[in-house]
Amino acid sequence: MEYRFGTAASAVDEARLWERHVRMAQFGALPGGGVNRQALSPEDGRARRELARWAAEQGFTVANDPVANLFIRREGSDPSLPPVLAGSHMDSQPTGGRFDGIYGVLAAFEVLQALNDAGVVTRRAIEAVAWTNEEGSRFQPGCLGSGAFTGAIPPRPALEEVDRDGISARAALDQLLDGESDFARRPLGFPVHAYLECHIEQGPLLEQAGVPVGIVTGVQGSRWFAIEVTGEEAHAGTTPARLRKDAFMAAVDIVDALRRLMHDPEDIVRFTVGRFEVGPGAPNTVPGRVFFTIDFRHPDPHTLKRLGDQVEPVVRAHAGHCSVRVTETFTSVPCAFDAGAVASVRTAAAGLGLRALELPSGANHDARFLAEVCPSAMIFVPCEKGISHNEAENATPGDLAAGTRVLAEAVVALANS
Ligand code: GLV
Ligand code: MN
Ligand code: MN
Repeated sequence: MEYRFGTAASAVDEARLWERHVRMAQFGALPGGGVNRQALSPEDGRARRELARWAAEQGFTVANDPVANLFIRREGSDPSLPPVLAGSHMDSQPTGGRFDGIYGVLAAFEVLQALNDAGVVTRRAIEAVAWTNEEGSRFQPGCLGSGAFTGAIPPRPALEEVDRDGISARAALDQLLDGESDFARRPLGFPVHAYLECHIEQGPLLEQAGVPVGIVTGVQGSRWFAIEVTGEEAHAGTTPARLRKDAFMAAVDIVDALRRLMHDPEDIVRFTVGRFEVGPGAPNTVPGRVFFTIDFRHPDPHTLKRLGDQVEPVVRAHAGHCSVRVTETFTSVPCAFDAGAVASVRTAAAGLGLRALELPSGANHDARFLAEVCPSAMIFVPCEKGISHNEAENATPGDLAAGTRVLAEAVVALANS
């Protein structure tokens, strides 16, 4: 039967979608209203189990793969064709909000259920996917699941990463997968026809423009570094400054020099030291060790390369009497999304009469990785004051549903192509 545009969007249930956000926010709930649902943690496992339960109620098949990417499949009329995937991630920042990541998974699931409710048959299967460890806050780098799926991140070294409690990603992964032995198991990576991802904008532009939908044109580039500064522990009361190898003081000089390197009057450079650890951490011992991270991003590939390549020389030049080790832990060049996939989002928004703004993404996303293997695009919805990676993150039920309706129509069009 011929598909009539708008059928899937009309079946998207705003209240149901909102209720599911509220429910998911209970897994890893924080007192301030946010969420701490670290990748591969028990909270992550419980949220995944809940999603799988909803999937079973709808008659969808549930599968995971060796890095715990989670797939929920609604079959198409030709099961032999590569499916259309839609999703995002379920892990959060340590003091994260209730929408970053989980919205894209719940929107994709809502589309599958809306298609059931409306009795729509698509040619290709459609799968809702939750990619493992997008945030990279527990185990670096982020986007482990989507990066491993596409071949960009070899799982073997990535799984050797340990968290702050000394638990390896591999051990956490094995434990999580043990609890999902009733799910079907797939090999890592398979052909995908197209990938779409809904996400809150995590910036202020849509809200400022008063527009419910963002058509995302691409993702800026990122380079992450881990810096270890090694000095010498000494007695704080007796050791004169001239004899010290103070790792903290060296690190302060290094960060100051990096801040000057990254200073940008146009305010386009993004430079963040998000983790800074001093060892041994006693008030009366001169620190012998500092570890800190750098998250540097830019939309222009030349600037990303030029400034990123200066990080190590600048660190070395300001280390004083200490030694340093600089490791680049993650690199992602700026990407433009596939014109056809972006057009499918644009057509869906226009057909639904929704005003939309075209914009690049400042945040990184799983779609950045999928874009290397299939036509991919993203749909943004506004979030309050652009706040994200913060417990106060907020979005309206209406905007979340609007983005989901656009997803529904775009996904159906792709699944019938
Ligand atoms: C994802 O949260 C990112 O770091 O951009
Ligand atoms: Mn996210
Ligand atoms: Mn995030």
